[in-house]
Amino acid sequence: MNKNGSLTCVGTGITLAGQITKLSESYLQAADKVYGILPDFMSEDWLKSVNPNYKSLQYLYAEGKSRRQTYREMAAEVVNEVKQGAKVVLALYGHPGIFACVGHFAIQDLKSEGYPARMLPGVSADACLYADLGIDPGTYGCQNYETSQFLFGGIQPNVGAHLILWQISLAGEHTLKTFKTSKENLQATVRILNKYYPLEHEVIIYEAPFLPIQEARIEKFPLERLPEIELNSISTMVIPPLTELKLDQTALDEFGLNITDFGQESK
Ligand SMILES: C[S@@+](CC[C@H](N)C(=O)[O-])C[C@H]1O[C@@H](n2cnc3c(N)ncnc32)[C@H](O)[C@@H]1O
Repeated sequence: MNKNGSLTCVGTGITLAGQITKLSESYLQAADKVYGILPDFMSEDWLKSVNPNYKSLQYLYAEGKSRRQTYREMAAEVVNEVKQGAKVVLALYGHPGIFACVGHFAIQDLKSEGYPARMLPGVSADACLYADLGIDPGTYGCQNYETSQFLFGGIQPNVGAHLILWQISLAGEHTLKTFKTSKENLQATVRILNKYYPLEHEVIIYEAPFLPIQEARIEKFPLERLPEIELNSISTMVIPPLTELKLDQTALDEFGLNITDFGQESK
């Protein structure tokens, strides 16, 4: 073991080359070794141009292999390199810690053994989504879930706030061994969402562009049409609020306030 090693997890952003922070780029340039889990070969080529000592961890993915195992193996490879004494950067697309566990695993493992390990933030898919869809999560509130976790957990959404479902293309995929969902799973997804939202409620599939010359995909359709809609691994579903934000008189009582103080009618 060589305690000179360290790990920095950086996010490359979503749009190629332009959304990485200067700080993260400087760590990339100075690293002895860079590992990456990036969505396409162009991003990888760009990373190699910043630091030629680059290795992709994509080779650890395989159809039929549990993604849980894949993520553990990815983290183990990074941790091992740090223990050899290298200054390692792990580059993940978007934000390295948002709906992305490998960086978190590696940091936890290394810190528990006394190695320096940290994460630097990056521009995530939802950061792009807020910009492209003109949503301020502070206006009505915003809930974020991994789609299957939301479905399997029987989670009751706050229908007065935005609901963002990540990994919609894996809805109901419980084996963690394949990379797409089925029409039956999407029909079940609609049935569950229909407990809270009418079938005609407009939902959005959003895909932020990877290249600066591309446009974002913003496809709006009624909830019931979800099973017919083309979904990709980068698709995110947004469900806009169904109802208006309501004030609660019982809560306001705690502050000595009244609904009428906010211009709303008391019932
Ligand atoms: C494993 S997560 C990675 C998220 C990434 N760490 C981030 O910060 O955005 C993959 C999910 O992120 C969302 N996502 C990734 N790329 C996207 C894009 N270009 N546009 C919209 N959503 C995207 C999708 O919900 C996708 O299923």
